[in-house]
Amino acid sequence: MTSSTTERRDRPSAGPGGPTFLDRVDAAAARGLVPLAIANLVANIAIVLTGGVVRLTGSGLGCPTWPRCTDESYVPHGSLGIHGAIEFGNRLLTFALALIALLTFLAAWRARRRRAAKVAFVIGLGIPAQALIGGVTVLTDLNPWIVAFHLLVSLAIVALCVRLLDLLRHPDAGTVQPPHAPVVRRTALAVFVSGWVALYLGTVVTGSGPHAGDVNSPRTGLDPQLFSHVHAASVYVLVALTGLALVVARRSGDARLVRAVVVLLGVLVAQGAVGLTQYFTGLPEVLVAIHLVGAGVCSACLAWVLVRATRRTTPA
Ligand code: HEM
Repeated sequence: MTSSTTERRDRPSAGPGGPTFLDRVDAAAARGLVPLAIANLVANIAIVLTGGVVRLTGSGLGCPTWPRCTDESYVPHGSLGIHGAIEFGNRLLTFALALIALLTFLAAWRARRRRAAKVAFVIGLGIPAQALIGGVTVLTDLNPWIVAFHLLVSLAIVALCVRLLDLLRHPDAGTVQPPHAPVVRRTALAVFVSGWVALYLGTVVTGSGPHAGDVNSPRTGLDPQLFSHVHAASVYVLVALTGLALVVARRSGDARLVRAVVVLLGVLVAQGAVGLTQYFTGLPEVLVAIHLVGAGVCSACLAWVLVRATRRTTPA
């Protein structure tokens, strides 16, 4: 028996007395799984934005210590002003994300979707890990390399959310169709890796640029102009590889893969336009925030292309 059929095996049907409470819980868990996976994806992109708002409003040290907000209190007091409220609000969001991840794990477990439960578990572990990394950013006065790492971990969690959604929506993927030709899988992998190089280089630009999160926070000392060009060059390579992936995907005849690559290409063009505009207009906060959300969406689309190329589904 394949693992996917094992995953989807139904529980014994209800006894003569009708469905028990646990039967109803299990049915609700199975129905709620995809919405919960979508909630994970949306929430993890949303926290990328709120984390960006903390940085762009100069509220990175709004709560000057961690895990308490101040040495005396877990919550901010009035003298910390709006910065304290913004930074603390972002800390509180961690609990919402942890709750969504926990519910997803429990639902996948009750629904016997073992692989999905494993991925939900890893996403769930990522949330407290991010709380700790967030704490280290505060305790290091927003060291730009740690701030960058904090963002990249969130972007990796976003990619895992896509993997989870794919496991749930296409449980038979990878078992009912022969795998794609190596050229399809390798091109998708090249797009994925080059996408992550572009994401990483973006964080290097940010760490060298003006939006540190606090006026006294350190910068990398690298030249932001130069690294903007390096970042943009990596994006041009990424766009070229994605164009190649489109040709390869069309030849494969897999409509779902073609759709994923087309969406990625559209997102990259939009994100590139925002990146260029913010570069030539002195990095206005609103555009930087949009570029951050775009980075979250890019991470999701990169993962989508990779799963579509490596886990082939039944024809659309
Ligand atoms: C199309 C794909 C692109 C992706 C996936 C991407 C991704 C990113 C990421 C992840 C960051 C770091 C955000 C942060 O840490 O707050 C960033 C920053 C930045 N990106 Fe891009 N980017 C793209 C295109 C571009 C292009 C074409 C330019 C043109 C120069 C550009 C200019 C910048 C600049 C100037 C920053 C630094 C903003 C700041 O100082 O806060 N980006 N990008």
